[in-house]
Amino acid sequence: MAQFEKANSVYEWLDQRLALTKLTKVLMTEYWIPKNINFLWAMGVVLMTMFKILLISGIFLLMYYKPDTKLAFDSVNYTIMQEVWFGWLWRHMHGVAASVVFLVIYIHMFTGIYYGSYKRGREMIWLSGMLLFVTFSAEAFSGYMLPWGQMSYWAAQVITNLFGGIPFIGDELVIWIRGNFYVADATLTRFFMLHVLLLPLVIMGIIGLHFYSLRIPHVNNQEGEEIDFDAEAEKFKAGRKAEAKVIPFWPVFISKDLFVLGVFMIFYFYLVFYHYNFAMDPINFDPANPMKTPPHIYPEWYFLWSYEVLRGFFFDVGPLSAMDIGLMAFGIANVIFFLMPWLDRSPVVAPAHKRGPFFIWFWVLLVDMIVLTIWGKLPPTGINAWIGFFASITFLGLLLVALPMITKQEAKRAGGAA
Ligand code: HEM
Repeated sequence: MAQFEKANSVYEWLDQRLALTKLTKVLMTEYWIPKNINFLWAMGVVLMTMFKILLISGIFLLMYYKPDTKLAFDSVNYTIMQEVWFGWLWRHMHGVAASVVFLVIYIHMFTGIYYGSYKRGREMIWLSGMLLFVTFSAEAFSGYMLPWGQMSYWAAQVITNLFGGIPFIGDELVIWIRGNFYVADATLTRFFMLHVLLLPLVIMGIIGLHFYSLRIPHVNNQEGEEIDFDAEAEKFKAGRKAEAKVIPFWPVFISKDLFVLGVFMIFYFYLVFYHYNFAMDPINFDPANPMKTPPHIYPEWYFLWSYEVLRGFFFDVGPLSAMDIGLMAFGIANVIFFLMPWLDRSPVVAPAHKRGPFFIWFWVLLVDMIVLTIWGKLPPTGINAWIGFFASITFLGLLLVALPMITKQEAKRAGGAA
């Protein structure tokens, strides 16, 4: 057994039992971060903060929310919004955070793509990040159902219906997911359970994995430079701080992060107080009515790009119906980013502006996803349908064909230069 001596302070007593000093070193004061990174590297901490805001505001909302199709709408729109003191504030904080968290996730993902942070030993960071994207999406979708307004009901109807397209088991699967033959009380209560319990637990576990997977490869830097972290850390500890290429997470790096976080929080609370409406669909202020389909059903802005890929293929090809092709494209669009570390065939880790064709590829992909997002909200008729079709084809082509081709050439050039 370990040796325990008489402690002179509470800290020392705890330290002997919990190795607090060692833990602080490993997680904070000797966790080394490259100096050469910009504000985009603060997005991880912004995401963590948004997740905490979602948890805390969610706990307050949970005190008055009623997961019952007869009571849910009123519990949100009357009890929380009008009767409970500051209920409106917690709801606006929750709704706005749920929306901006996706903006930050997309910025964080595209930063990773721009700087090649998914390569050379960083694959697990990327994969755990993509798992977070998928679980956050499920969390957002299940939460959207809870107010039981018109969009909650019809989005649940449309999305659960998609599973019907899976061969052989589709129809049974839809009933299993809904817990009934149609979207009903059982559907609401199980999505409630997912939203407030199972998915948050899973997300917390995956955040742990995401952070842990950063330990060995460390975070990337603006130049993609391979840093000898042990050697650079020694320089810092020896007092050669200007020369060292790294800084400790605590207290040096976190102070930079907190500055970016502060600016972001001003933007966030500005939205909460003055522009919360953008995060709430007006149609969802009408109670769910299974007898009245809204004229135009669309998801929240962060799902529009993949929704447009689903709708983009609007004609049959041979034995395949438009619905089948759309579903396959939608399935691929939702998992394709998992494969980034393998679709990119080049070992070069560098910012996109130093990677020639990859730089063009990056911006075409970003613009294409913005086009898909905009057209995802427009009615899919006439010219809109064609724009959606071309943007969907371009999206799939960029990831499945152009990326491997461009990066293979890059690998050849890099091999030649070596
Ligand atoms: C939604 C919850 C998420 C949280 C809380 C989170 C948190 C973090 C943190 C704190 C870092 C280290 C600092 C930084 O680069 O910002 C990081 C790095 C990273 N994350 Fe995330 N992340 C999340 C989602 C994602 C997603 C969706 C992806 C993309 C698939 C992703 C991919 C990465 C990558 C590639 C890095 C390494 C960056 C580098 O080495 O330069 N993360 N994340």
